[in-house]
Amino acid sequence: TRASILNYMKSKIREIKDWPKTGVTFRDVCPLFEDPRAFRGCIDLLRERYSSYQFDVVAGVEARGFVIGAALAYSLDKGFLPLRKEGKLPGPNLSKTYELEYGSSTLEVQNFSSRKGLRVIVVDDLLAKGGTLQAACLLIESCGGIVVEASVLVELSSLQGRKILQDRGWEVFSLLKYD
Ligand code: PRP
Ligand code: ADE
Repeated sequence: TRASILNYMKSKIREIKDWPKTGVTFRDVCPLFEDPRAFRGCIDLLRERYSSYQFDVVAGVEARGFVIGAALAYSLDKGFLPLRKEGKLPGPNLSKTYELEYGSSTLEVQNFSSRKGLRVIVVDDLLAKGGTLQAACLLIESCGGIVVEASVLVELSSLQGRKILQDRGWEVFSLLKYD
């Protein structure tokens, strides 16, 4: 059943107290990626959701959003658009700087051809305070795209990232939640 797959997936997520900083409880999804049943569960559940959506491309956030985003794009016969950390992409690029639970970072998207009206599902591994996905969605809109939904494997509900995104009018979906 869906519940048993989700439970199994959750059992593969590690919790690391006080990493990378005191006060942060880090949720590590890498063991879920390494486990074939859990990884397939993640991709299959997202594929089921988005198979009925009208969209053109999956945008994934570096680094763990690439793992989910690329597999999802392939499974639905769509292309993949990487949103990369600063300095990695040959330009011209658009950039957006944002704050994290533990520092700040900059995301970039290549911007050398028009993406006017392109319908995009934005994917990352985890939603915490929402700064990352907000920057990702702003980048998609800056290059002419339309954010159909922002989608994550894990949502840290107590950090209220969902509200930041929904207040700006973006739909949010998560497979697994932690308080
Ligand atoms: C983590 C995670 C998300 C982001 C979520 O990535 O993969 O992208 O934090 O946090 P937020 O909702 O508060 O913005 P991180 O920036 O640590 O980068 P990494 O993928 O390079 O490890
Ligand atoms: N990104 C931001 N906060 C995080 C957390 N607590 N666990 C994993 N990734 C994160």
